Amino acid sequence: MNSQIENYKTFLASPITIKGKKVKNRLFLAPMAGLGHAAFRELISEFGGFGLLFTGMCSAKAVPQENRNISTVFRWRDEELPYLVCQIFGSEPDGMALAAERIEREGFFGVDLNFGCCASAICKKGSGAALLKEPELAKKIVEAVRQTVSIPLFVKFRIGWEENSLDGAIHAAKMAAMFQAAGADALVFHPRSAPDRRLRPPKWEHIRLIKDSVSIPVFGNGNIFEPSDCKKMLQLGNCDGISIGRMAVSKPWIFSTISNGFLPHPDIYQHTSIRMITLLLKHHDERTAVKMFKKFVPYFAAGFKFGHSISKQLLKSDSTDEILKSVNSIFSEHAQPPETIDRPNLHLFL
Ligand SMILES: Cc1cc2nc3c(=O)[nH]c(=O)nc-3n(C[C@H](O)[C@H](O)[C@H](O)COP(=O)(O)O)c2cc1C
Repeated sequence: MNSQIENYKTFLASPITIKGKKVKNRLFLAPMAGLGHAAFRELISEFGGFGLLFTGMCSAKAVPQENRNISTVFRWRDEELPYLVCQIFGSEPDGMALAAERIEREGFFGVDLNFGCCASAICKKGSGAALLKEPELAKKIVEAVRQTVSIPLFVKFRIGWEENSLDGAIHAAKMAAMFQAAGADALVFHPRSAPDRRLRPPKWEHIRLIKDSVSIPVFGNGNIFEPSDCKKMLQLGNCDGISIGRMAVSKPWIFSTISNGFLPHPDIYQHTSIRMITLLLKHHDERTAVKMFKKFVPYFAAGFKFGHSISKQLLKSDSTDEILKSVNSIFSEHAQPPETIDRPNLHLFL
């Protein structure tokens, strides 16, 4: 692994096999409700450079009868199915298995169980990170899904509800071994405790404890802000690959930069924002498209030195025409294009 870390970009660009299925490389788009929708994934796919994309979390209760043409979350393009993993949340083993059955039937690459979300609406119902307090139930869920589907089964989880300490990480490592024994094929680990949300930096060194406790691939996640952060996460965590969330919204070409050496032209920001609203309109009605664009804005604006004013200007727009006018005025009507920054402005990163 050490020489691989030196050549971390080559390592991340190399293929990996998960449950006998080859994945092009070791970079994943993390699941993000409200951000990782079909339109955004289409934008990411145009830049390429990733191994797998994950949907935002879908309710296991809804998935079996969900209409993909109406739902904003359980929606996809057929072309992306070979590299798309559908994430589900829920707390009932049978319900999770039923949802996974549909996901397999639709042709997704795999299914991902959300054992990491700490939003109170999710945890109150015993789903997401709340399952880390119920190891027996979590195990039953993994087993039920495993018995039902043969596609790759992922579990995304955090350090549990303990302080983000070594004890917490040791507990998470035991959970990891249990997920593997119950039938998981790969793990994505975000080394923060549940109550931590994203306030403190994740402890990348704790990823190593998870990796040491299982033989299935382990992917690290949390606070990758620049390509060079990947090297540090691999060094500390010894993981098999990396899952990137918010930074991919800020710079949707980041996967291509890491794995293909893609160097963006300054026009890329204008192109990306126009493409985002165009693709949102392709997938949704105008009202929904504008609403979804506004969720994208703070992350996109975080890539600029004066991101607050860019964000403010874009968030004022209430129609797609207004958005396009704002984008053109930001990028074309000034002598100097707005100054970009490599490390995002974390005040805009929600
Ligand atoms: C707006 C938003 C929505 C998210 N939704 C989900 C989700 O649906 N499922 C999930 O497992 N994690 C979700 N996450 C957490 C991310 O997958 C990821 O673990 C977290 O953002 C840390 O990674 P990052 O620093 O690369 O963004 C979400 C994060 C954000 C910012």
